[in-house]
Amino acid sequence: MAQVFVTRKLPEVAEKVLRGAGHTVIVAGQDGPLPRDEFISGVARADAVITLLTDKVDGEAMDAAGSIKGFANYAVGFDNMDVAAATKRGIPLSNTPGVLTGATAEMAWALLFAVSRRLVESDTIMRSGRWPGWGPMQFIGGDVGGRTLGIVGAGRIGTAMALKSRGFEMPVLYTDESRNETLERELGARKVDLDTLLAESDYVSVHVPLMPSTRHLFGTKAFQRMKNTAYLINTARGAVINEAELVQALRERVIAGAGLDVYEFEPKMVAGLAELDNVVITPHTASATEDSRNGMAELAARNVLAMLEGREPETCLNPEVFQ
Ligand code: DGY
Repeated sequence: MAQVFVTRKLPEVAEKVLRGAGHTVIVAGQDGPLPRDEFISGVARADAVITLLTDKVDGEAMDAAGSIKGFANYAVGFDNMDVAAATKRGIPLSNTPGVLTGATAEMAWALLFAVSRRLVESDTIMRSGRWPGWGPMQFIGGDVGGRTLGIVGAGRIGTAMALKSRGFEMPVLYTDESRNETLERELGARKVDLDTLLAESDYVSVHVPLMPSTRHLFGTKAFQRMKNTAYLINTARGAVINEAELVQALRERVIAGAGLDVYEFEPKMVAGLAELDNVVITPHTASATEDSRNGMAELAARNVLAMLEGREPETCLNPEVFQ
């Protein structure tokens, strides 16, 4: 029987799967990001750990762990994990791809509509009692149907976002390291370089993982290449965008607006962002649906079971440790 440390309360199914297999589950006491010292001491006593994107799984944490069998991230993004350090130590890592694809793509669409059709501003005026009645010039926003959708990073989530454009008959452009035959076949999408995508798209939706090469992929230069009527949507990772430069671009109407679910310095936002009316901001909730969060919890728990049994987890980030 092993001891599994879970760094924050998760949907029940995670504990059910782990306890059902006879393991002891220790869930960190507080419902908030775990202070580093508590994380390290929890890791030190565990045989395996379920971590969150707010936990830094680095060499220090790995060395604090005695004979740890692995770390299972409750997220598809794994920029909080040092994969090379884990591989060097022979420690398996896993993430939760697939189960949150639909929910995240839907959130990208929700943000796209919310910012282009000015839903938050409209809701605010209705609640305030200040709406003077119908007016021909009120809350004019951006059109969606027939406009060009640019997908930056056509992996699982980028592909799902693009496929959902079908009903809106949007030409689709995408950037990716490899050709996406599904998008080309289903939508006639065109693979282009980033500069072309920025110049031609009316909606630019970001779906790249955060890596050294994608940090601040979007900054002043990128915003200047975009149409001043274009909208930027980000459900990936905040630091892909230089947030201070985004605030400036939104303030000066270099681009029309942005829909953001992720931030460079979570949980903080850079000064000025929250004061802008051409941005819709949500608290990193793109995967927050029943099915998606349950799916993440179950997959993370199954990955832990595999690690404890010395098997390769379903969604292993460093399968080479099993060779
Ligand atoms: C992820 O999975 O990477 C999201 O950011 C949180 O669900």
